[in-house]
Amino acid sequence: QDKRESLYVLSQWAGKFFKDQLWNTDIGNSIGLSYFKERGYREDIIRKFDLGYSPDVWTALVDAAKKDGFQEGYLTEIGLAIARDDKSLYDRFRGRVVFPIHNLTGRIIGFGGRTMKTEKTVPKYVNSPESEIYHKSDVLYGLSFAKKAIMDNDACYLVEGYADVISMHQAGVENVVSSSGTSLTTGQIKLISRFTKNVVILYDGDAAGIKASLRGTDMLLEEGLNVKILLFPDGNDPDSYVQTFGSSAFKEYVSAGQQDFIFFKTNILLKDANDDPIKRAEVIREVVESIALIPDEIKVSVFIRQCSSLLDIEERVLLSELNKIRLNKA
Ligand code: UTP
Ligand code: MN
Ligand code: MN
Ligand code: MN
Ligand code: MN
Repeated sequence: QDKRESLYVLSQWAGKFFKDQLWNTDIGNSIGLSYFKERGYREDIIRKFDLGYSPDVWTALVDAAKKDGFQEGYLTEIGLAIARDDKSLYDRFRGRVVFPIHNLTGRIIGFGGRTMKTEKTVPKYVNSPESEIYHKSDVLYGLSFAKKAIMDNDACYLVEGYADVISMHQAGVENVVSSSGTSLTTGQIKLISRFTKNVVILYDGDAAGIKASLRGTDMLLEEGLNVKILLFPDGNDPDSYVQTFGSSAFKEYVSAGQQDFIFFKTNILLKDANDDPIKRAEVIREVVESIALIPDEIKVSVFIRQCSSLLDIEERVLLSELNKIRLNKA
């Protein structure tokens, strides 16, 4: 496993390169560091997460890496550099602030780079590709910083992005991870469940966030986890909420606003159904479909009861629906 080790060493080296650019160069200071500070990040948090800056030059990292003896093949393999048709290399993350992605033991395995431009024509984030050391579906951003707090609190907050993880840490809420750059996977859920069975979804307050929350809920239930959801006001995410309203307002919002998945799903779906009885029946079926995913029979019966009182439907009707769904799946 010489090659894997070399890739780890190169990633670590790149993390140090980006950090050095951020803290110890004039450009890095005036562009990268000021960007983070304008977003409200404290210096200790910027250091804790190893945040960095990649100069807006075609081959800044490539040149430095070659000078330090790294092979070109490794640079492209972990995606720090991209090869042109003529095989010459250029930096993937140029002109972006950089968020290193750490594995469970805290080693750097990839990067996310955010543009500082506001034009919608450039992608907001560029991420490292899959590699021998970075299997995206088995990685959660922030987990190495969060695992102790997840165990201490016996709960894990799940957010969409890098910025959300970082602002929540700054607010003193450290049991938080993000599936950054991929939609939630079973591998990521299994990773969480090594530390806790209780997950609270804190996705962005927009249509995409709601949709992802519904999908995430079902996946988490299927793996036997307990799920709560917190909706943010439209247009907000955990990061913007912390930075706009402050840490204590954020913590109050999080502790007061969590909904059990049944309430969340029912409310979301009922909004569209209005008083249409056929649509209401469809809502009931969809909520029971989520309950049917839960592997634990005792929990299933508790949720059926809750659903019955919430929707004002007899339990035996819900149970027969549940059995129908199960028969169809068997
Ligand atoms: P968001 O668009 O919600 O970004 O995407 P954000 O985290 O709130 O970013 P800021 O606050 O504007 O900096 C959520 C996550 O989806 C991934 C990133 O991991 C991002 O953090 N993403 C988003 C990409 O990989 N590429 C993109 O172009 C956009
Ligand atoms: Mn893979
Ligand atoms: Mn979003
Ligand atoms: Mn967001
Ligand atoms: Mn954001």
